[in-house]
Amino acid sequence: MDPKLKRMASSVLTVLLLLEGGMFSSSSPPSSGVLENIFQHIDLHQNEFIQSLKEWVGIESDSVQPLPHLRQEIFKMMDIAADKLRHLGATVDSIDMGYQQLPNGQNLPIPPVLLAELGNDPKKPTVCIYGHLDVQPAKKEDGWLTDPFSLIEVDGKLYGRGTTDNKGPVLAWINAVAAFKALNQDIPVNIKFIIEGMEEAGSISLDELIKREKERFFSSVDYIVISDNLWISKTKPALTYGTRGNIYFTVEVKCRDQDFHSGTFGGILNEPMADLVSLLGSLVDSSGHILIPGIYDNVAPLSEEEKRMYEAIDLNMEEYQNSSQVKKFLFDTKEEILMHLWRYPSLSIHGIEGAFDEPGAKTVIPSQVIGKFSIRLVPHMNISVVETQVKKHLEDIFSQRNSPTN
Ligand SMILES: *[C@@H]1O[C@H](CO)[C@@H](O)[C@H](O)[C@H]1NC(C)=O
Ligand SMILES: *[C@@H]1O[C@H](CO)[C@@H](O)[C@H](O)[C@H]1NC(C)=O
Ligand SMILES: [Zn+2]
Repeated sequence: MDPKLKRMASSVLTVLLLLEGGMFSSSSPPSSGVLENIFQHIDLHQNEFIQSLKEWVGIESDSVQPLPHLRQEIFKMMDIAADKLRHLGATVDSIDMGYQQLPNGQNLPIPPVLLAELGNDPKKPTVCIYGHLDVQPAKKEDGWLTDPFSLIEVDGKLYGRGTTDNKGPVLAWINAVAAFKALNQDIPVNIKFIIEGMEEAGSISLDELIKREKERFFSSVDYIVISDNLWISKTKPALTYGTRGNIYFTVEVKCRDQDFHSGTFGGILNEPMADLVSLLGSLVDSSGHILIPGIYDNVAPLSEEEKRMYEAIDLNMEEYQNSSQVKKFLFDTKEEILMHLWRYPSLSIHGIEGAFDEPGAKTVIPSQVIGKFSIRLVPHMNISVVETQVKKHLEDIFSQRNSPTN
């Protein structure tokens, strides 16, 4: 939570310039005089930018809790954003996304995805900006010092749910474009926006929309920019140019429909929870190494050049350790830490459904439990190969236990 709106707006401009200066040859970058004017404009309008962010943060657009009144808040959020984009002069398509079916059979409407376009000069490259306007749940009781849904400034920092993830960055892009427009300054690229409201819930149906729009909306797109990431250091801005993928697994162990009591059944059963814990315990060792046979086979080998790039990254380990409030990581050097965050796969265990995880002693033996884990994927891992390897590994471990559960 360290949003500095102004800095974000200027780093957005930097991105435009980097793209312009580094990769495009068809049009020339804004001169430094133009940039001076734009920065001045940003300084002058800082309070308006913060007011807009305040309005956006004030909307409880929580997509994680499937509650009708919260879903309406996301719809409201998307409407306000569509208006803002139209005000910028963009043409905006608000795409109906249908319904989300909940496990209890209930249907909730999915908020629209906004597809917006600003400029279509064939001589200019087209940059498409992705963002999301939904947020994770937040309550004061979670440890917030202030109301999460009201933007507050403390010591020059802005606090509020969604300020950095991801309402602030979306607004920063809009504000950057608005600054060019307000000064009647030609924008060196065509701009498109794709903005959704279900990211925190797994971007439901977004993949289908993107495939549908491949030959239409995305056909002219040269670059995609995603400002939904992090700076690993608090002092150094970062441009992320890739992220790991994710494959999520659930594994269910079941004995019968009703739970047992340990006084009446304990000692004569293969307990599902014991089976599941041993399955989950077989996935990764205490040094973070994934134990699934073959899982590292396709991972791109580390080249000398890549190694040198990691050595050159400036990261203060002490500051990183302090800000993450972790006493000891699995690795001690900056290079190992960054490589294991960025270029090697990792396996995380997330939870167990049916685990009676509320506080207090319980003598129940759950009859059916579901373990959840995921693997972060890196080049050149193949998702269907990983899926086969995981399945085979779990089946092997399970058959070693000789358990009659399934
Ligand atoms: C990390 O925290 C310690 C203890 O609070 C402090 O003494 C040290 O200066 C901090 N280091 C950095 C780089 O922030
Ligand atoms: C991934 O592996 C599957 C099965 O071996 C293969 O059919 C597919 O072409 C591979 N995909 C890629 C992108 O290499
Ligand atoms: Zn995000």
